[in-house]
Amino acid sequence: MIIFREIAPLQQYLARLKKEGHTLGFVPTMGALHEGHLSLVRESKSVAGVTICSIFVNPTQFNDPADFDKYPITTANDIHLLVQEQTDILFLPAVAEIYPGGMSTTRHYDLGYLETILEGSHRPGHFQGVCQVVHRLLDIVRPHKLLLGQKDYQQCMVIKKLVELLRMPVEVIIGKTKRAPSGLALSSRNLRLSDDDKQKALALYKALDHMRAGIHARPIGELQETAKASVLAAGFDKVDYITIARADTLELLDPSAKWDGHTPVVAVAAAFIGGIRLIDNVLLT
Ligand code: PAF
Repeated sequence: MIIFREIAPLQQYLARLKKEGHTLGFVPTMGALHEGHLSLVRESKSVAGVTICSIFVNPTQFNDPADFDKYPITTANDIHLLVQEQTDILFLPAVAEIYPGGMSTTRHYDLGYLETILEGSHRPGHFQGVCQVVHRLLDIVRPHKLLLGQKDYQQCMVIKKLVELLRMPVEVIIGKTKRAPSGLALSSRNLRLSDDDKQKALALYKALDHMRAGIHARPIGELQETAKASVLAAGFDKVDYITIARADTLELLDPSAKWDGHTPVVAVAAAFIGGIRLIDNVLLT
């Protein structure tokens, strides 16, 4: 694996690979890699001749500075894992390389409704920061395929929209959420959970799964209330949301109604445990 910290030599190298006809697959990450990221690397290797992974903890997408300060950094282990997966290239830039003119941007990405709900409303500015860095990374790497994890369901939709807005010729591929045998969705933030909280955190997936089981029988609002209560009873400190939305638009379903039996829907949740904010989602249909 070749590690690049600077843009110019990376781009020179990639230009040569493209000239030789290689397809580039790109897996952007913020490090603290786990099986979810590695499965994307594997998927990239199955659809592209050359796989590039980036590790960059992007300051502009953290609406909470404390969350940024505590974000786990495990670079030596990440490199080891990427080498094991036979990743071709790692891009490991410093902040000044990504944001040479400073981090503020005058560009606003018009994400419309997507930015007004769920993660968008609970983390103001978060998706603008995600778009800012993904735009920059895509400009640098110019991949043919971009691989993202379904665990960040709304982020996947935002990035698809970004690619559309920018008219970038890149195919977005979404990899399935990877879970621990217990069901807990793998996340870099899990590294900050105590063993006890990791056990309790399972309640989030269980609640989403109960929603799946109950969707044919009970009104949406009732499912949401039961799910929220079960998560709080299991030891979560706070629930930002636990709700059901259309899988294609994230339009929230009417709580007083029952599911119509055919619209594809997704249950999405964000909640705090031990001061750590976890998100998860389950496609219900
Ligand atoms: O999902 C992530 O790790 C980040 O949001 C991403 C897409 C790498 C942008 O910083």
